Amino acid sequence: MEKDSKIYVAGHRGMVGSAIVRKLEQEGYHNIVTRTSKELDLRRQDAVEQFFAKEKPDYVFLAAAKVGGIMANNTYPADFMYDNMILEMNVIKSAFDNKVKKLMFLGSSCIYPRMAPQPMPESCLLTSELEQTNEAYALAKISGLKYCTYLNRQYGTDYISVMPTNLYGPNDNYHPKNSHVLPAMIRRFHEAKVSGAPTVTVWGTGTPLREFLYVDDLADACLYLMNTYSGDETVNLGTGKEVTIAELARIVKKVIGYEGEIVFDTTKPDGTPRKLLDVSKLCGLGWTYRTELEEGIALAYDDFLHSEMRAER
Ligand SMILES: NC(=O)c1ccc[n+]([C@@H]2O[C@H](COP(=O)([O-])OP(=O)(O)OC[C@H]3O[C@@H](n4cnc5c(N)ncnc54)[C@H](OP(=O)(O)O)[C@@H]3O)[C@@H](O)[C@H]2O)c1
Repeated sequence: MEKDSKIYVAGHRGMVGSAIVRKLEQEGYHNIVTRTSKELDLRRQDAVEQFFAKEKPDYVFLAAAKVGGIMANNTYPADFMYDNMILEMNVIKSAFDNKVKKLMFLGSSCIYPRMAPQPMPESCLLTSELEQTNEAYALAKISGLKYCTYLNRQYGTDYISVMPTNLYGPNDNYHPKNSHVLPAMIRRFHEAKVSGAPTVTVWGTGTPLREFLYVDDLADACLYLMNTYSGDETVNLGTGKEVTIAELARIVKKVIGYEGEIVFDTTKPDGTPRKLLDVSKLCGLGWTYRTELEEGIALAYDDFLHSEMRAER
């Protein structure tokens, strides 16, 4: 990408898209195009076609998606499939029709098979059954990713995809019922500190292992790969480091300064025992993460406090 290349970031108000815009601006890219979903509903084919024909971006980061937790995915599978599938197809096809030089498609580690080997290599995609609770989302995402590789194969385009692990950081979703494990912990420990609650209950035994990547590091990796990588196989984006849920809870407690006890509710489900990406390909391509978990959680907590203040205004 040149500094004056026209770059369309789809989903720029989301956690991932906003981090990519921040990173592009930091690096001096100054011709960035964005649209909110209100201004441009990416499910509307005619509107997407008109937008691409008018703006003619050189590069596209496709970070727009309908995302949600297990509950939402499981309850509204038809909506998750339709919205994501149609949105991706519209953007990728219009990018192709308008000769976009390169496109990056954002996948997710949750679209790998339910019983994938750990750590999960890129090659395990589509090797066995998907997780039932988010199957519709995964099928839509796999279709988008495959559409990119089919265009590369049939027409020689340069469309790449990446597979991020669990992300956290500015613009995360801290909704009390509908958020991922780390932002949910930040909210709950913060609320317990404010109310002086003696304990915070964490679901399960605390033993499952998970991986977390700070979203500004993710954005750094996306720019790095956009500028250096071409190929049909997706690239895992993670730290390659794992932490138990119990250890994660201790770090969040320390960062927030909560002084009560952590209690594990072992009657609640643990989920899969281990979920870690194999990042050897990413390391081989010359990229590694910078932000350690404790530092990243402190930055995320700061953002959480500011978002609370914004909500109160
Ligand atoms: N968060 C994670 O931990 C994580 C991990 C791995 C992969 N990912 C992947 O990263 C991508 C982005 O995730 P995120 O966490 O940044 O999600 P997010 O915060 O919910 O942001 C999604 C963005 O997509 C836009 N969008 C949704 N439907 C749209 C539509 N019909 N038309 C136009 N824009 C639409 C929204 O735009 P408006 O704000 O304008 O409505 C929103 O800003 C997804 O593909 C996800 O699978 C995320």
